[in-house]
Amino acid sequence: MSDIALPYKKEVGEIAASLVQDGMIVGLGSGSTATCFVESLGRRVTQQGLRCIGIPTSVATAKLAISLGIELTDFIHHSVIDVTFDGADEIEEGSLNLIKGLGGALLREKIVAAASKKLVIVADETKMVKQLGEHTPVPVEVTPFGWESTAHQLSHLGAQVAQRWGNDGKLFITDGGNIILDCHFKEVKDARKLERDIGSVVGVVESGLFIDRTAEVLIAGSHGIKRLEH
Ligand code: A5P
Repeated sequence: MSDIALPYKKEVGEIAASLVQDGMIVGLGSGSTATCFVESLGRRVTQQGLRCIGIPTSVATAKLAISLGIELTDFIHHSVIDVTFDGADEIEEGSLNLIKGLGGALLREKIVAAASKKLVIVADETKMVKQLGEHTPVPVEVTPFGWESTAHQLSHLGAQVAQRWGNDGKLFITDGGNIILDCHFKEVKDARKLERDIGSVVGVVESGLFIDRTAEVLIAGSHGIKRLEH
C-alpha cells in the first residue's frame, strides 16, 4: 500500500538528521517516520563523515542502521543518550504527550526515551490530536503468562481490550518476547493517571502512553515543517 505521507516523513527525517552533531549518542526510533530519519542519518555518516553512535529502539531499526553503516552501542557502554528521534501515533496539542506503539516497539522506545537528555518526535501533521485516544488505542505490552487475567484487569479501567495479531495472521510477539493488548478507551481524559493505572496492573510490562517525555516535535505538512517545544 502506498503511503501518501511519505514525502512529509522524508522531509522531517532529513531535518531531524541535520540536527545530529559530531560525537553524539543518538537514540534511533522505530516506525516509518523514524526509518526516514535513520536513512538520512546514514547518508550523513557515509557521505559527510558524521561521527555519531546510535542506540536502536527495535531489532528492525538495529538491522537498518547496521545496513547503512551507522555504528551502534548499548546501555553497557553508554547509559546516557544525547538525543532520541522517534515517531508517534498520536501527539496531543499543547501537552505534547504521546501514544506510541502501534508498531509494537513501545517498550524499547520508552526505555531509550527515558535514558535520553532530549526526546524529539518526528511526524506528519495527521498525528496531531486534541486529546489522546481520538484515533488509536493505547497499546499495552504484557507478559504472555496469564494475559487473559491482565486483559480482564485492564478492562476494569474502562478499556475494550484486543489482542494484537501480526500481518502474517500470527499472534504479534514483541522484540522482548511479550504480547500487545490494544486498549480502546471511549475517552482518555487524564492520560497521566491512566499511565499510572495501567502500570499498576500486574502482568503489564509497559504502556504506549508517553507522558511529559517530549521536549520537541517536528511536524511536517503542507505548510512545511513546524517546530513545537514543550
Ligand atoms: C513503534 O512502536 C511506534 O511507536 C512508532 O514510533 C509509531 O507507531 C509511529 O510510526 P509511524 O512513523 O510509522 O507512523
